[in-house]
Amino acid sequence: MKNALITGINGQDGSFLAELLLEKGYNVYGILRRKSVVDYGNVEHIKDKINFIYADMTDVVSLINAMKISQADEVYNLAAQSFVATSWEQPILTANIDALGVTNILEAIRFVNPKCRFYQASTSEMFGKVQAIPQDENTPFYPRSPYGVAKLYGHWITKNYRESFGLFTCSGILFNHEGERRGKEFVTRKITDTVARIKLGVADVLELGNLDAKRDWGHSKDYVKAMWLMLQQDEPDDYVVATGETRTVREFVKIAFEKVGIKIEFSGEGVDEVGKDESGRVLVKVNPKFFRPAEVELLIGSPAKAEEKLGWKREISFDEMVERMIEKDLYLVGREIALAGKKN
Ligand code: GDD
Repeated sequence: MKNALITGINGQDGSFLAELLLEKGYNVYGILRRKSVVDYGNVEHIKDKINFIYADMTDVVSLINAMKISQADEVYNLAAQSFVATSWEQPILTANIDALGVTNILEAIRFVNPKCRFYQASTSEMFGKVQAIPQDENTPFYPRSPYGVAKLYGHWITKNYRESFGLFTCSGILFNHEGERRGKEFVTRKITDTVARIKLGVADVLELGNLDAKRDWGHSKDYVKAMWLMLQQDEPDDYVVATGETRTVREFVKIAFEKVGIKIEFSGEGVDEVGKDESGRVLVKVNPKFFRPAEVELLIGSPAKAEEKLGWKREISFDEMVERMIEKDLYLVGREIALAGKKN
């Protein structure tokens, strides 16, 4: 039986990965940060099957301790300040967790068990102002946010520990991956949650920033399989994980509304652009508050290497992903309304 240690276990990816590793018979250890209220987040439903360890990416002693307790054969580093917009408000915190935090966990591995295999959650945000279309493992990086810059450090230190100390370290350059467990600050979940609220009559309008941004969106459940596959290979390497399709935020909005039977037409330009339903009611507006100081305009990745070398293939289509998210949000918002009704 192998031991796996997951940092960021209560996030979206951490929860899908924990489910996958439990299915495969691993002992799963997960790092939690101490809070005044215990928050199991997305692993609440499987919390009895997980061994939790309190530690923090900025505290190397706590990570050494986590390595000792877990006796990990594989470490998956999914912990991060992962919201790009926040990285302009908290650039130092973002760097401490997303950049130096990676060195901390690598040092903990080096001291406690250098044979342990390591997965680093790298990101398509490192491509930023893209230098090639589509982006693959050889595309030069050009990050556009403090988050992207910090993640680039994490990416290179992972490679460096492989080359310097012979550690088995892999980076997965994952393009956007979404799902029913996504935080509501990210655009996809913000859209599906608000569309559900509009459909059920408890919200009037969806306010967004840049509708022209294009993203390559896959489902998190597919992407965690690629993480595991990377650590089962004979040699450590870096891989892009993507769908090879790209869509604008505007297209995502249209498709999400279609799923609840509302047809949206966009008109106007820039901050004056609006999305109206067939009766002419404005359901989508642009709010400059959601613009970013520097934007990543276009992401589209090539999964060719992951498909060929790992045998990875995505199983959940874009359409199915949006459908799942909408269905879940209709259920959650409906339950919220019913509970509020009971209280009154
Ligand atoms: N969040 C948000 N909210 N984004 C908006 C909004 C809005 O109201 N309106 C437009 N957008 C645009 C953003 O400007 C961005 O171009 C795009 O929607 C996607 O934003 P997010 O969903 O916040 O994700 P992200 O692409 O910035 O970052 C995600 O993907 C990365 C991989 O490329 C995160 O998951 C990162 O942690 C991850 O590394």
